[in-house]
Amino acid sequence: MNHQTKINRKSYVFLLVYVFAGLSIFSCTKELKESDQNLTTQERATGVTRYPLYIPSVVSPAGLTITASSTIEDIGGGKLTNAWTYNSSFPGPTLKANTGSNVTVTFQNSLSQKSIIHWHGMLVNTLNDGQPQDAISPGGSKNYNYQIIQRAAFNWYHPHPHMLTGVQVNNGLAGGFIINDAEEAALNLPSGNYEIPLVIRDLNLDASGNISYKPTSGGSFGKIAAVNGTRDPYLNVDRAVYRFRMLNGANSRIFGLTLSNGADMILIGNDGGLLPSSSAQARMDISNGERLDVLIDFREYAAGTKIMLRDLRAGWDLLEFRVGSTTVSTGTTSTSSSFTALSGPVTTRTFNFEGMTKINGKVFDENRIDFQVPFGQVEKWILKTKGNAPHPVHIHGASFQVINRIGGRGQVYPWELGWKDTVLLEDGETVEILIRFEEYKGRYVMHCHKLEHEDGGMMTNFEVI
Ligand code: C2O
Ligand code: CU
Ligand code: CU
Repeated sequence: MNHQTKINRKSYVFLLVYVFAGLSIFSCTKELKESDQNLTTQERATGVTRYPLYIPSVVSPAGLTITASSTIEDIGGGKLTNAWTYNSSFPGPTLKANTGSNVTVTFQNSLSQKSIIHWHGMLVNTLNDGQPQDAISPGGSKNYNYQIIQRAAFNWYHPHPHMLTGVQVNNGLAGGFIINDAEEAALNLPSGNYEIPLVIRDLNLDASGNISYKPTSGGSFGKIAAVNGTRDPYLNVDRAVYRFRMLNGANSRIFGLTLSNGADMILIGNDGGLLPSSSAQARMDISNGERLDVLIDFREYAAGTKIMLRDLRAGWDLLEFRVGSTTVSTGTTSTSSSFTALSGPVTTRTFNFEGMTKINGKVFDENRIDFQVPFGQVEKWILKTKGNAPHPVHIHGASFQVINRIGGRGQVYPWELGWKDTVLLEDGETVEILIRFEEYKGRYVMHCHKLEHEDGGMMTNFEVI
């Protein structure tokens, strides 16, 4: 069986009359990615056609315009797909900047519904945070201007308009944001072609091959895995150490990541940057919005070896690494980083994540501030599920430390140490965190990052005073 309709034309012009989540008509031009030219005989025989992993271009966020619009994308599979993208890239361009530098971005909303860019993991003031109440109308724009004041990390950017985040992220709006700093640079970690963001998600296609969105209040689960917007991807790698900046960019699906040959991955960082020390991990779970900073050492493998990054939860193949013959013998495989544990909480607050729409009995109202937090003091927040978990809980405005998990899995995992901005509550779990808002006073949100729960109202406004 061979579905690879060869697409040889370099460029397509489409005029699509296309109803996308009940909206709009678009016309677009799009270059096809070099796609299905590299099939091996074996793939033709086994019927699994794999496509080269798309790697978004890396751009500086200084003086950048980011336009959200409907475009046509090649996600592999021999068909083009309608998507909503930032700067015509699915996922959006990877932003990269140093700690201390300035982000000056103009967001242009060329969608037919309101939108706003939020910088997930970025410590910025309320005006630059991209919160639901600041969503801008179709055709409108917003200027962001802030300094990067935090240490090296892999953050990301995505829409945050109330009740529309799910459809917009599902349809393709998301991108990575790498922050570098001097502490990290001194470690000589793999960079350039050896540092690759992996935005891991799922998606559904409709009968015409376009991305579709049919959520329920319990979530949205795609039947197809995509990494960097490519289905059934492969990546040619050298015999070298690689650094993968992994993000769960799915609306609802949680992944349990492992390598098909049983080899360990070297975990060096997560949401808030480098961990106090690196560790070898055979499996790591990553929920919606969480990041993992991972080294994989391909130096010992013979040229021609194929290794699959797999998801143990759904039993999916995510990304095939194809080892080539070029050898780079040098490479860092362990790291450590300075870390100060928070302690001595002054206040304890409890938040119940209830059903699919409520926190402490309330559905989100963008005009209501639910509580106030004093600036600069350590607090203990107790995050509890009251049904319908999993709830990946995300907090804006500060990173936090996970100190305890009671019930359910009953432990804090190595990839949950260090600084976090999102933590997973599985069924029956209570997670305790320590948090201190010490950068800006102002308004922020906490919400479930299962986007259908967030859109349903599992979100709360608070104010740092
Ligand atoms: Cu990644 Cu408030 O979101
Ligand atoms: Cu966020
Ligand atoms: Cu939830």
